Amino acid sequence: MNAAETRQREKIPTEIHASADAASKVLAAEIAALIRARAAEGRRAVLGLATGSTPVRLYRELIRLHKEEGLSFANVVTFNLDEYYGLGRGHPESYWRFMHEQLFNHVDLPAAHIHVPDGTAPRGEVFGWCRAYEEQIREAGGLDLQILGIGRTGHIGFNEPGSGRDSRTRLVTLDSLTRRDAARDFLGEANVPRHAITMGVGTILDARKIVLLAWGEAKARVVAEAVENPPVDSLPASFLQGHPDVRFLLDPAAGSELTRIKHPWLVGQVEWTPALGRRAVTWLSREVKRPILKLLDEHYGEHGMSDLLTEQGPAYNLNIRIFNEVQHTITGWPGGKPKADDTHRPERASPFPKRVVVLAPEPSDEMLGMGGTLSRLVEQGHEVTVVYLTSGNLAVPDEEALIVTDLVLDFVNGAAGPESAARGARAALARKLADPSASDTPETRRLKGLLRRGEARAALRLAGVAANAERFLDLPFYEKGRYRQFRPGEADQAALTALLAELRPHQIFATGEGQDPSSVGAVCFELLRAALEANREQAWRKDCRVWLYRTPDKAWAPHEIDMAVPLSPAQLARKVQAIYQHKSQRSQTPAGEDLHEAWQQAEAAARAIAQTYDSLGLAEYEAIEAFRRWMF
Ligand code: GLP
Repeated sequence: MNAAETRQREKIPTEIHASADAASKVLAAEIAALIRARAAEGRRAVLGLATGSTPVRLYRELIRLHKEEGLSFANVVTFNLDEYYGLGRGHPESYWRFMHEQLFNHVDLPAAHIHVPDGTAPRGEVFGWCRAYEEQIREAGGLDLQILGIGRTGHIGFNEPGSGRDSRTRLVTLDSLTRRDAARDFLGEANVPRHAITMGVGTILDARKIVLLAWGEAKARVVAEAVENPPVDSLPASFLQGHPDVRFLLDPAAGSELTRIKHPWLVGQVEWTPALGRRAVTWLSREVKRPILKLLDEHYGEHGMSDLLTEQGPAYNLNIRIFNEVQHTITGWPGGKPKADDTHRPERASPFPKRVVVLAPEPSDEMLGMGGTLSRLVEQGHEVTVVYLTSGNLAVPDEEALIVTDLVLDFVNGAAGPESAARGARAALARKLADPSASDTPETRRLKGLLRRGEARAALRLAGVAANAERFLDLPFYEKGRYRQFRPGEADQAALTALLAELRPHQIFATGEGQDPSSVGAVCFELLRAALEANREQAWRKDCRVWLYRTPDKAWAPHEIDMAVPLSPAQLARKVQAIYQHKSQRSQTPAGEDLHEAWQQAEAAARAIAQTYDSLGLAEYEAIEAFRRWMF
């Protein structure tokens, strides 16, 4: 495929880099070149900056360039895109604080050159304040480069759907999906501000150069729409199409929905490997809404797949081949069926029983993604260990933690040690409820972590997993970290490496691949990769298979599934009950039409995979949990 063909549908130059780190380094080098060129002319470089998890790696690289390669920010002026309205600078989620912690405090940028919208301007003065912000940008000479992330609604800055192409800096109301995405940071949607101040789409488009960064599969859909569809105000990032110097830098997961990646046969000539054949045929079946075995030559012809028929057809033979491949992914024996012919089974028959390790980045991930399969593995006699990699304490609302401290206090009533710890935690929680900018003390975090342990154990018992089959690693990167800002290190990797060496698994179930690289899941997946590498010479590793599961927000497409484990109605109900034990994780938002609760999402996701298999013409099951084999 030549370059022109591949870009055919992309109206914005889009680069897919090997990783978020690699892409961030490319942009950091460009920024350094801009700053140096301006300095050489005795001028200032004016940067428009963004917040969120996305630019964190870029800022780390800029700090490195400053510390190790002498890049000076003395001639840089910055303007931030946006700020939550109503948050003071000291609030843990304020963008002012974020920018200082992530960049400004670590480089020689003069304080007077920093501009962040003021979230505390009184209502009556906001309008004037916003006009003054625009004026300051103009006086600085306009933005040389605007860095952007993208929200799942397609927003840039906080320009939500409905924002006009010519909008300027102003006070806006946040979209409900945006507030839900921020709920984790604020420990509950109710705490997320309803308004924000943001540069307008027009303000952004005035920048001389714009670079948008996006990582992880959650952004893939909206990125593809922004780049490929006509510009519309329901997707503000699509307005970037009109800009003369704009680029998107993506990691592979964020690029995965672009037509050239997802359906390459629609934009040019492809080499029809067996894997691409399966992808194309399962896609065609869903596209024309016919079971695989009923696809006709003309369906192939009408969808850019005549070459495939020429090479691997006729349709009848190709249909049967793909149907069989998908059929062979289905198994009720996720650990392999002992003494059976395993030629066409996803997992090998021996050894039996297997030592199985299920890795959960945070407690409940394993139930959401594979609760039914977990029960089956136990029932079928395998030695299952569930490993909770992090404590999950960041996700426990204060109200839940208070219930536990009060319980401990009532229970010990007078006993010395635990009581004073619980009293300390209680006082800290009370302070936090009164002052939203206060952070958790180590004691309250420990307590919240213990609460999640209790829930995880309750869920495991319901799923039929024997007591003492679980391990809690409480990895230090999480205990020391905050969302979006985790920094895994030696100690994390050493803990997982040692655990695998001790358990010597035949099977590992893991998740997190393809997620936003700053998420807990993705950090844990990278640690697994490193731990497997560190165990390279171990005999068990050569005989170990890794199966990837997914938490419900992103399902596998049929061509990605290597093992499909059907659940009966009773098994599905039991899984839902087990998820329900994670009580501290229940949404605090009343369920509307959307699925807010984790168990609802998990149930819907498992049913959806079953429906997909049904629509492809395979047997109709109540629900399916799907896995992909990871060749490491
Ligand atoms: C917020 C910010 C945006 C940012 C978006 C994506 O809404 N206002 O500027 O692009 O979040 O956040 P993240 O990078 O964490 O995915």
